Amino acid sequence: MHRIKVTINGKEYEQEVEPRLLLVHFIREKARLTGTHVGCDTGNCGACTILFNGKLIKSCLTLAVQANHAQITTIEGLAANGLHPVQDAFLEKFGLQCGYCTPGMILNACYLLQSNPQPSEAEIREALEGNLCMCTGYQHIIDAIRYAAERMKQSGTVQL
Ligand code: FES
Ligand code: FES
Repeated sequence: MHRIKVTINGKEYEQEVEPRLLLVHFIREKARLTGTHVGCDTGNCGACTILFNGKLIKSCLTLAVQANHAQITTIEGLAANGLHPVQDAFLEKFGLQCGYCTPGMILNACYLLQSNPQPSEAEIREALEGNLCMCTGYQHIIDAIRYAAERMKQSGTVQL
């Protein structure tokens, strides 16, 4: 077993973990933050997407021990002070149905908008290529991200 300390959404979690434990399972089962979903455990679906030291990663492709001393943001962290504008936009523009892919989609969108505040539809589609959705056909997700970008431009919102 290894003792690790991880900061998730500003809160420190210290636990003994097995070396084989995946970070997504640490987040869900040890930190009890179940907004990060598991679709495949093999890096294909994007449901487990989080921000890890400011970078977008799939947390099923990282071991929990690799997150020792890392700073992580999950979907719960975006809503710490009320819903984030991207979360609001997904609600308003019907960017979700079952919601399984939604946390990963929203974190991906926030990450994109940090570096590209006014992305084109093609740029959004390219950014989302590692995140799969079984329900929406993607168009409502893209509309929601463009809507969020417009609202954030008008309000001067800092993305994260
Ligand atoms: S659960 Fe990580 S990519 Fe599917
Ligand atoms: S809303 Fe159901 S998988 Fe995307």
